[in-house]
Amino acid sequence: MLAERIEAALNRQLAMELRSAYDYLSMSAYCESQSLPGFARWLRLQSQEEVEHAMKFFDFINDREGRVRLEALEQPPHDYASLLEVFELALDHERAVSRAIGDLYSAVVDEHDYASQAWLDWFATEQVEEEKSVGHIVGALKRIGDRGDALFFLDKELADRSAG
Ligand code: FEO
Repeated sequence: MLAERIEAALNRQLAMELRSAYDYLSMSAYCESQSLPGFARWLRLQSQEEVEHAMKFFDFINDREGRVRLEALEQPPHDYASLLEVFELALDHERAVSRAIGDLYSAVVDEHDYASQAWLDWFATEQVEEEKSVGHIVGALKRIGDRGDALFFLDKELADRSAG
């Protein structure tokens, strides 16, 4: 059984994960429009991963006899100034998700909800990986600058990302 404020916080996080999926999907569409199929694929798979994160919250709320309440999703941006802006926004967003998971963690500790605390450990660890992978791409894009040949090879490399 979930405390009311924990149920509400889990629902908010479910919505944040779905918004992440929506943002990454829009970023993927932008990369398709810029003829960058490797970046587009990477972002599309990232979007799918965010849906999986959201569904973990969906299942956990149900497993704990809570009630899932879906929120309206904001429209994501559909245009970006540059590829670097896409990944800088993604990095800002992942940092915001990490903070939100941290706040949720504090709330469950405060409620002595140890089942939720143990379950959230996976997300705390996952966020380290999320920030690292997006941060590496931001770093690579800064080094590349406007060198089209290097961008071509990075696009090829990102195309190799496997699902899951
Ligand atoms: Fe599920 Fe990238 O946060």
